[in-house]
Amino acid sequence: MRNLINILDLTTEEIDELIRSASEIIDNPELYKNSCRGKILGTLFFEPSTRTRLSFTSAMMGLGGDVLGFSQAASSSISKGETVADTIRMVSSYSDIIVMRHPKEGAPIVASNVASVPVINAGDGGHFHPTQTLTDLLTIKKKKGRFDNLTVGVCGDLKYGRTVHSLISAMARYEGVKFVLISPPELALPDYVKNEFLKNCEYCETASLEEAIPSLDILYMTRIQAERFDSKDEYERLKDTYILNAEKLKCAKPDLSILHPLPRVNEIDTDVDDDPRAHYFDQATYGRYIRMALILMLLKTKGVDDRRTHGKEDKHLVCTNPHCISHGDSERGIKRLFEGGKCIYCDQMAEKV
Ligand code: CP
Repeated sequence: MRNLINILDLTTEEIDELIRSASEIIDNPELYKNSCRGKILGTLFFEPSTRTRLSFTSAMMGLGGDVLGFSQAASSSISKGETVADTIRMVSSYSDIIVMRHPKEGAPIVASNVASVPVINAGDGGHFHPTQTLTDLLTIKKKKGRFDNLTVGVCGDLKYGRTVHSLISAMARYEGVKFVLISPPELALPDYVKNEFLKNCEYCETASLEEAIPSLDILYMTRIQAERFDSKDEYERLKDTYILNAEKLKCAKPDLSILHPLPRVNEIDTDVDDDPRAHYFDQATYGRYIRMALILMLLKTKGVDDRRTHGKEDKHLVCTNPHCISHGDSERGIKRLFEGGKCIYCDQMAEKV
């Protein structure tokens, strides 16, 4: 089974192939309208979504397939105490491919290890969001024509912003890419992302959007993730740290590309929407086509088994991340697996109990 849990599950050649395939679908949608006839996509959203769930639904419909699923945990038997693993075992027998979003980091790994069909991670807590990154990459390819030699500013909630973690891990693979990490210190990029993905990449950190803007080829704005904060007061204090507006864009490059995974709250003023450099609505549109290409690819791939069975069980270690699927008792029967002192589900450090 081929799954997509982390964007690095795809080689750069496979990403190129997906982008080629999505572009072909954009140009000739009629040719693909029966490609998934008789196939079923299961959409399991334990967290809210507009773009990801509906673009996957629309993608499968555009390929002639069917869709089943739920859009909130409360309408599934998770609310009665069922585990992710048992839920996925069931849905595996009702569908040919599963896309899931879950608030716990590493939940899609638990799912892919028991599923009998491919599993796609549509966002796991503040960890990763690989299909958003595919959407971002298609947008960058369409708007800039390349991935290499770009200065990419990522701005906002770099701590909890899963789209940023996946985008950085994908873009860091290309030659000459530089990152400008723009956040308040409280929302800085986590060490596990910096140490793992930025070790061979040029980057700098700043709290000033205004100072960063003139050097950027891409500005990736993000929402401050209210739902991940332990303290409401802390969220209130930080929520409007960055507001991009037409005035601030006066000193930006004329060919800057402004991206945002959406939804936005206040971080991009609506006076930016008519600027030809604002590409975030096109970005959301591209999401449907890259997801069509991804569904086709995963349903076609045979003879591969990329379950994450690595790591060792260690009864003396516990993951330090309270948002990890291995933390607490909700996922009964989960094997707590570690590799190099890190939890294999959420990539964060473990500690001795
Ligand atoms: N970008 C994104 O994941 O949007 P949704 O939360 O609406 O799916």
